[in-house]
Amino acid sequence: TRRVRTRDLIAAKSRGDRWPMLTAYDQYTASIFDQNGVPVLLVGDSAANNVFGHETTLPITVDELLPLVRAVVRATKTALVVADLPFGSYEEGPTQALRTAVRFMKEGGAHAVKLEGGRRVAPQIEALTGAGIPVMAHIGFTPQSEHTLGGYRVQGRENDGAEILADAHAVTEAGAFAVVLEMVPGEVAKTVTKELPIPTVGIGAGPDTDAQVLVWQDMAGLRTGRMPRFVKQYADLAGALGEATRQFAAEVRGGEFPTAEHTF
Ligand code: KIV
Ligand code: NA
Repeated sequence: TRRVRTRDLIAAKSRGDRWPMLTAYDQYTASIFDQNGVPVLLVGDSAANNVFGHETTLPITVDELLPLVRAVVRATKTALVVADLPFGSYEEGPTQALRTAVRFMKEGGAHAVKLEGGRRVAPQIEALTGAGIPVMAHIGFTPQSEHTLGGYRVQGRENDGAEILADAHAVTEAGAFAVVLEMVPGEVAKTVTKELPIPTVGIGAGPDTDAQVLVWQDMAGLRTGRMPRFVKQYADLAGALGEATRQFAAEVRGGEFPTAEHTF
């Protein structure tokens, strides 16, 4: 077995093969996803919410995300690991974007980077791909811009998604190997997917994209509470971990743990 390459993902699209993607932020989960059929892992800036407990993705820094990227790369054998570029680490232009992306490739060992935006970040995407760094784009709802977009809202409802389509073509022409479509109408995602030669990765974008991504804690039910409509929970990790915790706590209080078998 070898690492998945960006060209494998483009080849999958030409065969009509769909693929799953998950976020990962640490070694055990990354290794499980790697061994159970997930060819692409994203060390998302959503670590801001899902690891560090922030309200938005905005506060996370390159120095906070880099060690998580290193952990996920070290723990995996076949997955292509994509590192998200945090808010503020690429908007100034191609030079800043290149400086940040090089850190994720060199210090983090990432195999690709992801950044948010369409036409407005085409110069950044061109600079990175020109330097040999594969880029996954991210359009539609882009969480780093949530204060401008007015919160978590479906994007591209106007003019049959003309803006989304223009962004999708811009990132493709700039050299992106794939593009995330977040919270766009299913029909728009379907059109974009048909028109683009590169794979589309949907999240809240309906069933017709080439790939699907979810935040792993949402997918596995570790996060509780109100969930976005696009999430499906495949397990109840919060329930399982809560039960294990209650048992451990009760056995310590009751003097049932540890026993002789746990004792030297
Ligand atoms: O950071 C993240 O988790 C993401 C995915 C949801 C695409 O950008
Ligand atoms: Na992200």
